[in-house]
Amino acid sequence: MQSRRWGLCLIALAVARVPCDKRAMSKASPQFTCTACGATHRKWSGRCDACGGWNTIIEEAPLSAGPGARVAQGRQIALSTLADAEPPPPRAASGMAELDRVLGGGLVAASAILVGGDPGIGKSTLLLQAVASFASNNLKCFYISGEEAAAQVRLRAARLGLSSAPVHLGAETNLRDILSTLETERPDLVVIDSIQTMWLDTVDSAPGSVSQVRAAAHELVSFAKRRGVSVVLVGHVTKEGQIAGPRVVEHMVDTVLYFEGERGHQFRILRAVKNRFGPADEIGVFEMTGAGLAEVANPSALFLSERGTPAPGSVVFAGIEGTRPMLTEIQALVAPSPLGTPRRTVVGLDSARLSTILAVLEARCGIPFAGMDVFLNVAGGMRVHEPAADLAIACALLSAREDIALPMDTVVFGEISLSGALRPVNQTENRLKEAQKLGFCAAIAPRLAKPTAMDGFELKEMPDLTEVVGQVFGAG
Ligand code: TYD
Ligand code: MG
Repeated sequence: MQSRRWGLCLIALAVARVPCDKRAMSKASPQFTCTACGATHRKWSGRCDACGGWNTIIEEAPLSAGPGARVAQGRQIALSTLADAEPPPPRAASGMAELDRVLGGGLVAASAILVGGDPGIGKSTLLLQAVASFASNNLKCFYISGEEAAAQVRLRAARLGLSSAPVHLGAETNLRDILSTLETERPDLVVIDSIQTMWLDTVDSAPGSVSQVRAAAHELVSFAKRRGVSVVLVGHVTKEGQIAGPRVVEHMVDTVLYFEGERGHQFRILRAVKNRFGPADEIGVFEMTGAGLAEVANPSALFLSERGTPAPGSVVFAGIEGTRPMLTEIQALVAPSPLGTPRRTVVGLDSARLSTILAVLEARCGIPFAGMDVFLNVAGGMRVHEPAADLAIACALLSAREDIALPMDTVVFGEISLSGALRPVNQTENRLKEAQKLGFCAAIAPRLAKPTAMDGFELKEMPDLTEVVGQVFGAG
C-alpha cells in the first residue's frame, strides 16, 4: 500500500514537470548578435566579448522554432551544369563612353547600382547627364530627387543644356509613394538621389539612419529585381556614425561605383569597386567644367599637360587603372625641417607606402631622410593605389633630395621589396606602349621576365634600388 502511494507521488511529480519545461521553451528570450563577428550574447553590452568590437551588438528577433528544429519538407530545386549556355545580359549604352566602360559595357537591365562619393563632388550632375543620355537612347527614365526641389533640378538641367531630354522628374522622399508610382509607370531606369533622404513609414527611425537606409535600399533593390527596372542609388560618404554611409548598402547592389576627386581640381574619377557584370577597378575620367562633366578620352595626355621644363622631384609613372594604361606625374619635395618630428605629407598616395620606401632608401641604399620634411603628391588630383608606383615614388624622392631632374622623356614603374630588390609588375607591355604613344622614349623598370624590344625606345632594366641610385642619380 505504502509503496503504491510513493509510486503515484513520483508519477504526479513527473507530470508536473512537463508543462514547466514547455513554458520555458515557448517563452523565447531576445537574442543579441555582434554585427562584426556574429557572436551571440544573452544581453546587450557596449563591447563584444568575442571580438572586442565596440558598439557592434544589436538585438535580433529570436528564431520562431528553436535551433535544430526540423525544417518542413520543401520542394526539389532545379540544378544545372556550369557548361549550360547563358546569353550575355542585355545592355543599354548611354553614349557616355567613360560611364559605359565603368559599367562594363553599358547598363544591364534590372541591375542595382550604387554611386557613392563626398557631398558636392558632382554625383547629381553626373547622374542627371547620364539619365538624359539614356533617355535620348529611348529608355524610359525617372530622376527622383530627395535633396533638391524640381525647380532646382530643372535649373541645373538648363545649365547643362539638357532641358529637352525626355526625363521624368520627381521630387519626393516618401518611398511608399515613389514605389507605387514606379509600380504603375514601369520605367526602364530610375535614379534615386539620394538614398539617405528616403524614408519608409514602416521603419521607426529618422531618414539617413542605418535602419532607414538599409530598409529603403532593400525595397528599391527588390523592386528592381522583381520588375526588371534598373535602379541607381546615390549615396553620400559621410563622417562615421552620424548618417549611414553607402557602405551599409554595398552588399545589396550589383555594382558599386565611387566618384572621387580633389575639391580644388577639376578632374573626377568614376571607379568601379564592385561589379557583378564587368571588371572591377575600371575607371572613367571626367573633367568638371562650367557646363557640367566632360568626358576625358585620353587621361594620360591631360594629366601630363601641365608639365613644363624638367624639374627635380617630378617623375612620370606609367600605371594601369582597371584595364587601361594611364600616365600620371608624381611630385616630391624634400626640404630641411625645423621640427623635431619632420613632416610627411601625402596627397593621392598611401602614406604607409611612403614610410616603407623611405625606410628602404635609408636601410638598403644608405640615403637618410631624417631631419627633412617630405611632401608627396600625385598631380591633377588623381589617386594611385598600385604597388607598381613604388619605384616612381622612390625616384621622385631621390630626384628631389639630390636636386637632379630626370629626363622629360622617361617613365618609371616597378614594385620595391623590403630588401630593396625591384619586382616586375603586370602589363609591362601596355605601360610601355602608352608611354611611347605619348612621346616618351625611355623607361626605368625592373628586369623583365621576357625581353621586350620597341623601336626607338630605351628600356633601362634595374635589378634593385641601389642600382637605380647609382646609375640614375650617381649617388649612394
Ligand atoms: P553636385 O552634382 O551637386 O554634387 P553632389 O550631388 O555630389 O553633392 O555638384 C556640385 C558641384 O559641382 C558644385 O560645387 C558646383 C559644381 N558644378 C560645376 O562646376 N559645373 C556644373 O555645370 C554643375 C552643374 C556643377
Ligand atoms: Mg547631389
